[in-house]
Amino acid sequence: MADSKMNHYAETLSQLQQKPESWLITGAAGFIGSNLVEQLLKNNQTVTGLDNFSTGHLNNLDHIRTSMSLEQWQNFKFIEGDIRNLKTCRMACQSASYVLHQAALGSVPRSIADPINTHDNNISGFLNILVAARDAKVKRLVYAASSSTYGDHPDLPKVEDKIGSPLSPYAVTKLVNELYAQVFAINYGFKSIGLRYFNVFGQRQDPNGAYAAVIPKWVDAMITGKPVVINGDGENSRDFCYIDNAVQANILAATATEIAANQVYNVAVGERTSLNQLLELIRTKLEEQYPQLINFKAIHQDFRAGDIKHSQADITKARNLLGYDPSHRINEGLDIALQWYVKNLKSS
Ligand SMILES: NC(=O)c1ccc[n+]([C@@H]2O[C@H](COP(=O)([O-])OP(=O)(O)OC[C@H]3O[C@@H](n4cnc5c(N)ncnc54)[C@H](O)[C@@H]3O)[C@@H](O)[C@H]2O)c1
Repeated sequence: MADSKMNHYAETLSQLQQKPESWLITGAAGFIGSNLVEQLLKNNQTVTGLDNFSTGHLNNLDHIRTSMSLEQWQNFKFIEGDIRNLKTCRMACQSASYVLHQAALGSVPRSIADPINTHDNNISGFLNILVAARDAKVKRLVYAASSSTYGDHPDLPKVEDKIGSPLSPYAVTKLVNELYAQVFAINYGFKSIGLRYFNVFGQRQDPNGAYAAVIPKWVDAMITGKPVVINGDGENSRDFCYIDNAVQANILAATATEIAANQVYNVAVGERTSLNQLLELIRTKLEEQYPQLINFKAIHQDFRAGDIKHSQADITKARNLLGYDPSHRINEGLDIALQWYVKNLKSS
């Protein structure tokens, strides 16, 4: 971790504290959205959250409320609404300086099972937010893009300008987001930045449901005595990115100089962990509190359609243009996330 780069994020936060801005977070009741709301409120920003609770939870907002002062919480306004409704998007964007757009239907398998809903939320909803943000003259829109956009491109690590063909409807929607953002820059001079997240994990990521992400799903299974299923031999690998890194990237992207705008950036750590290694890491960390996990083994089944075998980011571009410097590697992030799950899964 380079001190000067960390200082850049700390400096950015300190400047924001001195001159608070007004932010709209879509998908505010979800995993990444709620962590963005929390960090911004804790730095005395004014925040509007928009969510339709399709995959997000009111609980996530309750968690945030109890983690800060009443004064900070009073700077938060919540709109229950849908990004598929342009009027709602216009209302939400009204007084925002920055929009951090997270609302979407995540998950590759969900999109294969239900491409129409994924399209409506992720493409039509995105277009509504773009139009509303453009018309409200926000300073910048930062949106959740995805590493799935690399599709079948074989190169590792992944570099932003080398993408292959998408392998799922979800990946198509995230690629179309990038194309719309580009076209809005060309035609309307609208400023945006896309953040291609790679497997983000951390507190408040939902462990439940058929489309849960691997880390919360496995942690929940291990704690509550359910089986863990790995699709394939477990040698698939991913660049697991702790939530604080993704939050940092959003805040830096929103406030970065003009030269950084109208581009996409990888957001990850730049490392690769196989699913087998991940399982062992989680098992070892939980074993102290759950000694029955000593001989825990996963069940393996077939590879899943739409999955890519390996994924690892080159984060040079985000380092150079945004001053991004991930504060947590997988090991450090897991320590914090597991502590949170142990506490909250037990009491839920
Ligand atoms: N978590 C990851 O590893 C990851 C990786 C790549 C990209 N992303 C993208 O990051 C964003 C946030 O993901 P997350 O992991 O926090 O997921 P999440 O499901 O926890 O959060 C998404 C939120 O958006 C809300 N939402 C969905 N459709 C909406 C609509 N039509 N109107 C209003 N709100 C709506 C949901 O209710 C939910 O609260 C998504 O765009 C996702 O595609 C996430």
